[in-house]
Amino acid sequence: MSAQIIDGKAFAATVREKVAAHVTRIKDENGITPGLAVVLVGEDPASQVYVRSKGKQTIEVGMNSYEHKLDADTSEATLLALIDKLNNDPEVHGILVQLPLPGHLNEDLVINSIDPAKDVDGFHISNVGLLGTGQKSMVPCTPLGCLMMLRGHLGSLSGLDAVVIGRSNIVGKPMAQLLLGDSCTVTIAHSRTKDLPDVVRRADIVVAAVGRAEMVPGDWIKPGATVIDVGINRIDAPEKGEGKTRLVGDVHFDSAAKVAGAITPVPGGVGPMTIACLLANTLTACCRANG
Ligand code: GUN
Repeated sequence: MSAQIIDGKAFAATVREKVAAHVTRIKDENGITPGLAVVLVGEDPASQVYVRSKGKQTIEVGMNSYEHKLDADTSEATLLALIDKLNNDPEVHGILVQLPLPGHLNEDLVINSIDPAKDVDGFHISNVGLLGTGQKSMVPCTPLGCLMMLRGHLGSLSGLDAVVIGRSNIVGKPMAQLLLGDSCTVTIAHSRTKDLPDVVRRADIVVAAVGRAEMVPGDWIKPGATVIDVGINRIDAPEKGEGKTRLVGDVHFDSAAKVAGAITPVPGGVGPMTIACLLANTLTACCRANG
């Protein structure tokens, strides 16, 4: 292995420390405690794990955490009424509705009912528009975490060729906007892209966010490239024993690490940064709300 490992846990710890220090200051100086409300509808096991972890880390940095767990068959009207209440609650500075929502709920409608100033996910259409036009916005947490690690590792990204594999609203599209904002030449690739290996081979920066286990092998990677693996996929691991599983990214780590200049591991790369950025966004929302 020749690639340097980009340690997402260490980056995230630094972000959390800075957030915690700032929270202490605004509590002491202004008597304000930032508050994050997380709404979970239903009992999706992965979502439950994420929500628990978000709540725990929110409290650890000194913020207030408000968890709202609703039954899977909650009506749209009930959910919208809760969001309206949170929008009007001065103690709540950030609101996150955990996705995916049960099928009977209109995700776009729900997300766009959140006050854009409290939309710490950056998914509201007005934040999407602000980001797309280079204006001050709430920036989606996962791409923001990726950008922070890229800047931390590479310094300036200006002029670099970047390929984002995946075109989701949560990661791929905002990631491309952020890289463009840092003056990269950006390609968004996806499942229909022709000659995907050749497209990836041109890139100085590869951000893989497709949700397919180990889809990007090392021989697609340009020697020395920086690889950010957003994927979290659980696969069978018979080598660990019968019925055992392990987490892998969208990049085949062992082969990619032989070629890349630097790479994020899974787990321990992008994942920890996503929650750290959520806390940073909540603090930002609180500071903006209080001038
Ligand atoms: N589900 C998976 N990732 C996310 C995220 O970043 N925000 C929300 N709200 N739901 C998610």
